Amino acid sequence: MKKIQISPSILSADFSQLAKEIKKLEEGGADMIHVDVMDGHFVPNLTIGPPVIKSLKKHSSLPFDVHLMISPVHKYIEDFSEAGADIITIHPEATDDMNNSISKIKGLNKKVGVSLNPETKVEVILQHLDKIDLVLIMSVNPGFGGQKFMPEVLTKVRDLKKLKIEKKLDFDIEIDGGINFENSKQAIEAGANILVSGTTIFKSNDGDIKKNIELLRSK
Ligand code: DX5
Ligand code: ZN
Repeated sequence: MKKIQISPSILSADFSQLAKEIKKLEEGGADMIHVDVMDGHFVPNLTIGPPVIKSLKKHSSLPFDVHLMISPVHKYIEDFSEAGADIITIHPEATDDMNNSISKIKGLNKKVGVSLNPETKVEVILQHLDKIDLVLIMSVNPGFGGQKFMPEVLTKVRDLKKLKIEKKLDFDIEIDGGINFENSKQAIEAGANILVSGTTIFKSNDGDIKKNIELLRSK
C-alpha cells in the first residue's frame, strides 16, 4: 500500500506571499507543491508560468507537482522542466501526439503525469499507462479552486486501481478538486494515494496548514 501523500494546491494561496506560503506548506508536512498552471484557453482562468515557478523553486526543497492546464502544451514542456517542475502533468486533449509529449517529459528526466477531466474516460489513456508515473483524476472541472467535489469520478479511481493490479503497474493515482475532510477517506479507499487540496488546506481551521494536512492524511 503506497503512503498517502498530500500535494497542496497553491492556487488557493496568497499570491502576494507565495514564497512564504510554500515555506508554510513545507513546515506543515506537505509532500509536494501542486502548481496549477492555467492559460485562459484550455481552462477559463489564467495563473502563473515558468518565471514564477523558477523563482519559487529556490524557496522549497519539496518536489513541484506541476499541473499544466494549457493547450497546446507540447512546446512548453521544456520551459517548465527548466523552471524546476519535478512532475509534469498534461491533459490528453492538449497535445496532438501523446506519445511524443510523454517521451519529451521522460527525456527531460521528469516524472510524467496525465490528467483526466471529469468527462474524459480512462480508455483515452489506457495505452499509455505503462509509460507514465501518475494519473491525475480531476474531481472538478479544471479552472478554479473552491469547487464542489464530483463523487462520480471515484469510479475511474477504482478502475485505475484495478488496472494497476491486473497489469502490475505502479503509477500514482492523484485526485484533484474539492478534496476535503469529508471526502478524502473515500478517495483514498477508492485507490488515490496523492491528494491535491487548495481550499481545505489554506482556509480550514483558521488556515492552520499543519493541522489541515495532518487531518487530510489521517483519514
Ligand atoms: C483546479 C485545480 C485544482 C484546484 C484544487 O483546476 O486543478 O488543483 O486548485 O483546489 P480545491 O482543493 O480548492 O478544489
Ligand atoms: Zn490542479
